[in-house]
Amino acid sequence: MTRPLPIVAIDGPAASGKGTLARRVADALGFALLDTGALYRAVALSMIRSGADLDDPAAAAAAARALTADDIARLTADPALRQDDTAAGASRVSAVTGVRLALLEFQRAFAACPPGGAAGAVLDGRDIGTVICPDAPVKLFVTASVEVRARRRFDELRGRGETPSFPDVLADMQARDARDSNRAIAPLVPARDAVVLDNSDKDVRQSFEEAMQVIRARLPA
Ligand code: DC
Repeated sequence: MTRPLPIVAIDGPAASGKGTLARRVADALGFALLDTGALYRAVALSMIRSGADLDDPAAAAAAARALTADDIARLTADPALRQDDTAAGASRVSAVTGVRLALLEFQRAFAACPPGGAAGAVLDGRDIGTVICPDAPVKLFVTASVEVRARRRFDELRGRGETPSFPDVLADMQARDARDSNRAIAPLVPARDAVVLDNSDKDVRQSFEEAMQVIRARLPA
């Protein structure tokens, strides 16, 4: 019997730094990386582009089922994927069961057979350790206080030349946290066997080193 490939599951809330961490971990291990939030964003973006109603669960599920691998590649490379309305739309469509089911197989296939013949996979999202890859040998739950995450988002927006108000950014972050954590299906919660890494007071290098310690201890050599 062939052994399943090593998988690193990285979950956490918006602006927790999990995407940056996942990229660094994947590079360090030579693993393929799947940013699963981009899949939900792709569903939202395809609906926005076609003028569909983001609050219609049947339309959202149909949009998710209709996405081909080529559509995913095209939409995830689109600069509009990172816009705030796409993020808010992703948070809404991600609460729809039919959307999550439609994206499940794509994520599991990536983990089982990572592209490019990579020796393993890093997946980052909200439910990787709990639903998508419950048997992953490494599960990290990356988080930071909501104020710290809002501050990071605020700085990012200012860096792009926008003029956000901090209270608005904080309120948006709190609303997204509440939606992601309180939805009925696959809510954002740490898996029972996840290691929680709070990086409120850490920089990117410290967070990476802390994560790699856990990974080295849990991944077979
Ligand atoms: O990580 P992100 O900001 O790109 O995610 C966008 C939205 O997608 C987020 O608000 C919740 C949802 N999401 C999810 O429900 N499950 C995942 N595995 C990844 C993202």
